[in-house]
Amino acid sequence: MKNLAILASGNGSNFSAIAKAVKAKKIKADLKVLISDNPKAFVLKRAKKQRVKAVLIDRSLFASKATFENAVITILKENKIDLIVLAGFMRLLSKNFVRKYKNKILNIHPALLPSFKGEHAIKDAFDYAVKYTGVTVHFVDEQTDHGPIIAQAIVPIVKNDTLKSLEAKIHKIEHQIYPAAINLVLKGKLKPKGRRVV
Ligand code: GAR
Repeated sequence: MKNLAILASGNGSNFSAIAKAVKAKKIKADLKVLISDNPKAFVLKRAKKQRVKAVLIDRSLFASKATFENAVITILKENKIDLIVLAGFMRLLSKNFVRKYKNKILNIHPALLPSFKGEHAIKDAFDYAVKYTGVTVHFVDEQTDHGPIIAQAIVPIVKNDTLKSLEAKIHKIEHQIYPAAINLVLKGKLKPKGRRVV
């Protein structure tokens, strides 16, 4: 069985979707640990509810990114983690960290990459008034929101959509697409080769 860690900074709805998929054996792995950098993150409460071990590594208590990441790496090693899943983890990982876990970090982004990179992708797409946006699951490489794409799903923006209704549609799709993509990667069925995933 492969060991999974989830890193999350906020609400944690993707965390819950993944934890439920693990329980339902739709993801064949052990969800060993949830790591959060943010003491106020609601995801910490969700982890408790799902009985997943939660570790808070409060970024504000570390003098540098390197020392913070070393603390994260310690937890990953202790739990013999095979795959790191970023689920609303709102910090950029250093090149060193990404190199250390090459092809072992996944991210979900709430837009059709390479459009609308960054922290406010749903709002940016809504304000731009594109007709279609969506969700992207990708391997993490050394550039932000950039690595090889594993899966994408399209979400149309219709006339009566508000930012709120669009957010709800995006999250609903995220909760389907991310567990499915994680399971395929864990099965060893998907490997990055240049920009492609084969
Ligand atoms: C998700 O929409 C995820 O795609 C996004 O943060 C949200 C977290 O929601 N991630 C990014 O924007 C990364 N650049 P959640 O905490 O409810 O899972």
